[in-house]
Amino acid sequence: MTQRDVAGITRPCSVGSASTPLGRSFPASVLLQLCCNQLVPRMTRTKCCKIQAFILIGVLCIMFLIWFEPGLPNQVTTSHTGSSNPVQLLNKATVGPERSPAVYSRSLYFWDDCHRNLSAANVTGFSTLPGHLQNFLYYRHCKQFPLLLDLPHKCGGADGSADVFLLLVVKSSPENYERRQVLRETWAAEREHRGARIRRVFISGTKGVDFEKRQMNRLLALEHKKHGDILQWDFEDSFFNLTLKQVLFLQWMEGRCPQARFLLNGDDDIFAHTDNMVEFLQGHDGGRHLFVGHLIQNVGPIRERGSKYFVPVQVQESESYPPYCGGGGFLLSGHTAMVIHNASKSITLHPIDDVYMGMCLARAGLRPISHMGVRTAGLHIPSSRVGRHDPCYYKDVLLVHRFLPHQIYIMWDQVHDPALRCRMK
Ligand SMILES: *[C@@H]1O[C@H](CO)[C@@H](O)[C@H](O)[C@H]1NC(C)=O
Ligand SMILES: *[C@@H]1O[C@H](CO)[C@@H](O)[C@H](O)[C@H]1NC(C)=O
Ligand SMILES: *[C@@H]1O[C@H](CO)[C@@H](O)[C@H](O)[C@H]1NC(C)=O
Ligand SMILES: *[C@@H]1O[C@H](CO)[C@@H](O)[C@H](O)[C@H]1NC(C)=O
Repeated sequence: MTQRDVAGITRPCSVGSASTPLGRSFPASVLLQLCCNQLVPRMTRTKCCKIQAFILIGVLCIMFLIWFEPGLPNQVTTSHTGSSNPVQLLNKATVGPERSPAVYSRSLYFWDDCHRNLSAANVTGFSTLPGHLQNFLYYRHCKQFPLLLDLPHKCGGADGSADVFLLLVVKSSPENYERRQVLRETWAAEREHRGARIRRVFISGTKGVDFEKRQMNRLLALEHKKHGDILQWDFEDSFFNLTLKQVLFLQWMEGRCPQARFLLNGDDDIFAHTDNMVEFLQGHDGGRHLFVGHLIQNVGPIRERGSKYFVPVQVQESESYPPYCGGGGFLLSGHTAMVIHNASKSITLHPIDDVYMGMCLARAGLRPISHMGVRTAGLHIPSSRVGRHDPCYYKDVLLVHRFLPHQIYIMWDQVHDPALRCRMK
């Protein structure tokens, strides 16, 4: 089952799980930092004359530590009951030596409680909407969720990130273990191609409640430990939360990988010819606007209740969408990613993630463009005699949507077969 195919997206809202009041421990760590930052220079600069101040501040620090510290582990454990691995990682990352600037850490590890917007239920016709749309409206304003699994060094730090030529950002639900495993060995392998450094992250939320959620979190924590390629936030990984996932990724990128030259943003069920992508992108400048994919324009919200893409007037009144690229996969420059990130701060979330990207681009006065090699609607194979999976059709593409894991595995091998002979061009 693929993300863009998930049909059963109705799920009861779990109010408490997303909003952990870890924020309460924030004052303690900030004060501790302030104290310690000021202590050291004072001691060295003015030697002994400020000993009194030192003792006073020291006592204050200890008092604050005693006051606030016990709250941290307790609250984390109660909110992510039993998921010990992510909690450990979260704590380690918080106190790790190579932290990003304080402002960024703050938005990563301390979040404001995001409560259900009860007024949303006052909108006309709310009670007639399907459950997942009600949930969407209730939580639409929430753009910050706790990061459970982080990758601070994925791009060699914020400054080193300029060396990353292509960052592969793959939306993957926790249960899609097999897909991730195949991608690691095929088109998403971290490597250098023609001197260009390729890096990979899977972005994920949480699945299920209670036991199932803990098991899935444990799976991701294991993969994170083994492969170092999972980013996970504590929100429900559903089809209508894909936009949220995208926005959270861009927040992460701003702090951890702001200078990556290009990104492939896509689903975990695509065949991406990343070698061809590098060759295509090497003709472009990552510091300028680039957003290419399968262009969709002159369309608007689907108003049929039965559709997976149903967007009622309560969510969007306007009958048209800006031009956008199909969300199965698209390529963009690091520059454009940061422009979208900035625009997203002032644009209300829209449940369809690829449409939301189009909205952000439009706000910034930019346009997405089409590339023949991106086939998110599938590939038209004219002859019925050659199979749908004839590698000759795939060796020149950039991206094709909807492959099963084993098909990806075979295709990646076949397009790299030196003995492959293709008659057509
Ligand atoms: C919803 O509307 C009712 C009546 O219009 C009003 O009394 C109530 O305060 C509203 N609720 C919220 C949460 O805005
Ligand atoms: C809550 O929903 C109401 C009705 O849709 C909306 O007017 C209001 O801006 C929302 N509040 C927040 C914090 O988003
Ligand atoms: C999105 O995630 C939040 C946090 O887990 C959840 O409360 C909300 O119901 C989800 N929304 C949808 C549409 O699934
Ligand atoms: C960020 O977005 C705001 C609002 O859309 C816009 O006014 C501003 O110029 C943008 N800044 C950058 C650096 O793009």
